[in-house]
Amino acid sequence: MPDATSDGALFLRAARGEDTPRAPIWIMRQAGRYLPEYRALKERHSFWEMVRTPELAVEVTLQPVQRFDLDAAILFSDIMTPLPPMGVDLDFDPGPVFAEPVRTRAQIDALAVPDGGELAPFVADALRLLRAASPVPVIGFGGAPLTLAAYAVQGGGSKDFAAFRGFLRAERGAAHALLEKLAEVTLRYLRMQVDAGAQALQLFDSWAGLLDERSYREFGQPYAQRVLEGLADAGVPRIYLAVDAGHLYPAIDELAADVVSVDWRRPLSAVRRALPGKTLQGNLDPAALLGPAEALTLESERVLHEGLGGPHVFNLGHGILRQTDPDAVARLIDVVHGFDRRAAAWGDAVPRRPSAAGREHA
Ligand code: CP3
Repeated sequence: MPDATSDGALFLRAARGEDTPRAPIWIMRQAGRYLPEYRALKERHSFWEMVRTPELAVEVTLQPVQRFDLDAAILFSDIMTPLPPMGVDLDFDPGPVFAEPVRTRAQIDALAVPDGGELAPFVADALRLLRAASPVPVIGFGGAPLTLAAYAVQGGGSKDFAAFRGFLRAERGAAHALLEKLAEVTLRYLRMQVDAGAQALQLFDSWAGLLDERSYREFGQPYAQRVLEGLADAGVPRIYLAVDAGHLYPAIDELAADVVSVDWRRPLSAVRRALPGKTLQGNLDPAALLGPAEALTLESERVLHEGLGGPHVFNLGHGILRQTDPDAVARLIDVVHGFDRRAAAWGDAVPRRPSAAGREHA
């Protein structure tokens, strides 16, 4: 297992913009239902209970780190964690279900904006324990204002968030008031996580891709930017994730993020041209872990080749699927760790003879 000072720091080096000799790897939703040890704990505790009990959150966070040779740990929590302290009542089944959607100006005006210390003391406790116990760097996270607003206004998950997208048009002033409060709470929440020991932060803007670029530039980007800029002096790399958001890359490129996490829809080489100054994180299709071992190896190597030419943190394009066999994760990590980026970059620089044609990166 890598340790936090030498090999484990590879993740932090790549996140800070270094073109490292091998790509570090962590996996979105690496702690979760595909792991039998997570399911066993879940039989005895509810999701909220695990999130709100520091010892349990630490145990779940470290489950994948103990089982696999991962290069980072992500705090076990949820992007919804700061909403109940604001006065928004919600539960999980398994996704978030809100007691009442937040849709009126009066509801929004009534939302609290608590201090960082009041927001989720159990998260600060969990992070402090993790820093002492984790052999690899610890990633904290939060939801971007737009994505949190999408859930709060919709009242839960949705395929298209139609009520939310209608609300942005019908209640523009109220929408901005809600986003303002969410941006302030998110900034306080993430600063608190750095103070408690988080060594990197990921801002999940999972639903930004639902908006056209103009709407994103009004309702999404400025609020994500306020959070990211507010963390500029925190001294930790900032990762921004949006899914199905290729059309937003010109706006995302302007964000004060060090790393952009990209889904599997475009090759990393093309994304790198759109986001030239960023470390790229991704972008294996989570479904690749459901296929045969040889196909997983080939597809992972293709992602690794596509990631050459700049800093790369290997990850999936979105969260791991719950039907994934943990053995496939172990194989994936072996492939990533066995890939020498310098030798591969040199190989790519050598002109290929015609017999080598057909290799996709040639
Ligand atoms: O990545 C990790 O391992 C850290 C933990 C983590 C969870 N949620 C645990 C979780 C993280 C980083 C999240 C973020 C999150 N939560 C996002 C952004 C990432 C993304 O997927 O785009 C979103 C949109 C949510 C909201 C949420 N919470 C949903 C949609 C669901 C249910 C569906 C699902 O994917 O599992 C949850 C519940 C949830 N959050 C579970 C876990 C492990 C499953 C709870 C259970 O055990 O039943």
